Amino acid sequence: MKALIDRYRDFLPMTPSTPVVSLGEGGTPLVPLPRLSERLGVRVLAKYEGMNPTGSFKDRGMTMAVSKAVEEGATAVICASTGNTSASAAAYAARAGLTVAVVIPEGKIAAGKLAQALVHGARVLSLDGSFDDALRVVRELVERHPISLVNSLNEYRIDGQRTAAFEVCDDLGDAPDALCIPVGNAGNISAYWLGFQAYREAERARRLPRLYGFQAAGAAPLVEGAPVARPETVATAIRIGNPARGEQALAAMRDSGGAVAAVTDSQILEAYAMLAREEGIFCEPASAASVAGLILRARAGDIAPGETVVCVLTGHGLKDPDTAIVNAEPVRRLPATLDAVEEAVFA
Ligand code: F0G
Repeated sequence: MKALIDRYRDFLPMTPSTPVVSLGEGGTPLVPLPRLSERLGVRVLAKYEGMNPTGSFKDRGMTMAVSKAVEEGATAVICASTGNTSASAAAYAARAGLTVAVVIPEGKIAAGKLAQALVHGARVLSLDGSFDDALRVVRELVERHPISLVNSLNEYRIDGQRTAAFEVCDDLGDAPDALCIPVGNAGNISAYWLGFQAYREAERARRLPRLYGFQAAGAAPLVEGAPVARPETVATAIRIGNPARGEQALAAMRDSGGAVAAVTDSQILEAYAMLAREEGIFCEPASAASVAGLILRARAGDIAPGETVVCVLTGHGLKDPDTAIVNAEPVRRLPATLDAVEEAVFA
């Protein structure tokens, strides 16, 4: 398969001397959700970004950011992260032969993401603070040292992440009526909006979708209109109190005719379990915020019957095995006998 950068090279700021650092990212499936569609009376599809090489959408931006870092002669990259950015940065830096450091909030990173950063050889630094604290520190650090910041403040990250919007349009033949997406540091929703606009300008799509962004209720600065000092949510990926691209994201939602809203942890976990049990799709809790939000929007009448809606499932469920296990029925332990197993299977 062609690297994502090569597939959409016309839309990306590549030069002949930019190397392509790729792990086969992008090209993720747009999976219909028939049960949810029937229940809501709308056509719902999931953009399953968990199918990227490191299991999240971050790879779209990281292939660009790391390729550009190499072109510009960087030898090291750094990011603050709730987990997925660090996993992706670690993998792409390993691929490119760069040194990588990741700064994470203590104890609030899902196990799979931490394992990824460690296995790829990142220097993992855990701060006694939030993601927002970590981002503030790394922003100051890159002012002092020649090290490339690969958070979504990096424009190349946004350039690369726009490709998800291109793929949605290519698969549907046009933009959908609406796009539902979780919002953390607000880079991804901003990238989608830029992507849909670029595609329409290039006449590869005829229309623009309404963008609906969803934050976790305990970490909803854009809904509340002010930073949240101590964000809390089961959706650790979006446990962010002061999004770097908050203003840009709010403008995107407003200009598109959409809106921002909060979903509670229990709504997130309900959507998460529903996707896994009824649609066969395992995403991480933050990703399920898009579906929890769609359900709210549809019930509020914001989605017209028969409209096509894409929910972005940003990361794979395997990222966070602990949340999956804690919220499921316990495993039953049995003696190793036919009777016991027969009884348990058919009970
Ligand atoms: N979903 C997942 C699974 C994420 O990891 C993130 C962000 C988001 C949604 C929100 O995207 O920040 O562009 O609005 N994760 C970042 C990280 C913050 O460090 O991995 P956003």
